[in-house]
Amino acid sequence: MATEVAGERLAGLARYGSVHLLDEVASTNDYAFGLAGKHTTAVVVARRQTKGRGRFGRPWFSDDASLTASLLLLTDAPDFPHPSFVVHLAGLALSRAVDETVGLPTQIRWPNDIILEDGKLAGILCEGRRNAVAVGIGLNLNQESLPEDLPDAVSLRMATGKQWDKFYLLENFLQEMFASIEQTAKGESAQVLADIKGRSTVMHRRVEVRTLLRKHVGTVIDLDTEGRIVLRTDSGRLVVLGAGEVRRLR
Ligand code: BTN
Repeated sequence: MATEVAGERLAGLARYGSVHLLDEVASTNDYAFGLAGKHTTAVVVARRQTKGRGRFGRPWFSDDASLTASLLLLTDAPDFPHPSFVVHLAGLALSRAVDETVGLPTQIRWPNDIILEDGKLAGILCEGRRNAVAVGIGLNLNQESLPEDLPDAVSLRMATGKQWDKFYLLENFLQEMFASIEQTAKGESAQVLADIKGRSTVMHRRVEVRTLLRKHVGTVIDLDTEGRIVLRTDSGRLVVLGAGEVRRLR
């Protein structure tokens, strides 16, 4: 095993799937997909990524002070949520996990950023291939500072002045993620959606949403049952958006 982790932490992670701790990998999401034929769930953690990616194929900054991990899930598991909803479940789980670990309130910037004190603390990249979903999380954990070309970013250390145990945070995330999946399987997705809305930075706010094709400006009046934004545009139209990049307007 390349990375040293306390046995107790490892046992904690292993409750959620086959655990893979790597020194270096191209992308933990790709590595996780490679495990799909062998395991029903797997947790991949890397110290470094050489080709880490964010949404829209952008490069993703991370270093050894980051939490860089992917959770592999199979979509044909019984009662599995709709794959497009997994990113929202992951956002809720990561936001809660940070709150529990650190005791500071975080929010979710639709669809997949975790925001702490107006800065981007973490991003989530959910990707699907055949019957598998990789939930990739990149969280700025113990950096004393972050690259200047990421002015919007914040780390837990920058916000708290303290160092944090990445495996403890990851275990909290996994516990929350599986709890939310179970809650949806039990038919309680309305409550899960309400919890997601309660943490959203965009609900009832004026925003600009950039999609691949165009830009929409208006007020978010709801998140629908698939987690899509329901926007009343300035021209009075209702638009439902499943993907895009949101910027809050004052
Ligand atoms: C974003 O905000 O654009 C999402 C960033 C997701 C980054 C994580 S790091 C672990 C996993 N592996 C990747 O290549 N990307 C995700």
